[in-house]
Amino acid sequence: MKTAFPLPSGRAALVPSVLSADFACLKGSLKPVNRLADWVQVDVMDGRFVPNISFGPAITAAVRRASPLPIDAHLMVAEPLNFLEAFAEAGAGLITVHAEAKDAAACLKKIRALGLKAGLALRPKTPLSRALPYLPLLDLLLIMTVEPGFGGQAFMPAMLPKVGAARQAIRGSGRKVWLQVDGGINSDTAVLAAVAGADSLVIGSALFRAPDPAAFLKGLKKL
Ligand code: DX5
Repeated sequence: MKTAFPLPSGRAALVPSVLSADFACLKGSLKPVNRLADWVQVDVMDGRFVPNISFGPAITAAVRRASPLPIDAHLMVAEPLNFLEAFAEAGAGLITVHAEAKDAAACLKKIRALGLKAGLALRPKTPLSRALPYLPLLDLLLIMTVEPGFGGQAFMPAMLPKVGAARQAIRGSGRKVWLQVDGGINSDTAVLAAVAGADSLVIGSALFRAPDPAAFLKGLKKL
């Protein structure tokens, strides 16, 4: 089981989002991506922070059993502080909380105290300035390019300047913070996000709805 988060050289990390996988056959869904993707993301939704409920630590543990890839847990949860140990226990190696959630700074400190990598996510309407004070606490900054809550939404090109500004801010900080983009990523928008500065791309519906997910990932790597 790989726990380190490898950042490939010369291309963005490809991170399947299991939200769009077939939960009736998780192992089968993940099989084609296990050797081609860099990490895997579990999209956790509590029905409060976003108008949808997805899954919790139990499915995260199932993903742990179904894939050797490091697990990135994106908590779209109103009060994430209560759940950090449970996701660490379930096998997450990186936990991302939202800047708009309760006690974000305390969460980031606790995630690192648990020995995990810490990520901060911004909804589309939250300005980048909200994330900048947290940079010293971060291993990853996630710029959402859809409104969190559902897979299969269209990429919001209006977010690209925010991705570019985030890349500039990270570069200016001199800190090693990965810049992740999540929402509506396909073979066209992946290029836009990577050119804007993303070095980690979360891909849900475009990957798991592809006739051949492995070929889709191989194609992305060539871009
Ligand atoms: C939204 C989710 C989705 C998911 C990716 O809350 O976070 O963005 O990860 O789904 P697609 O790739 O289908 O937009």
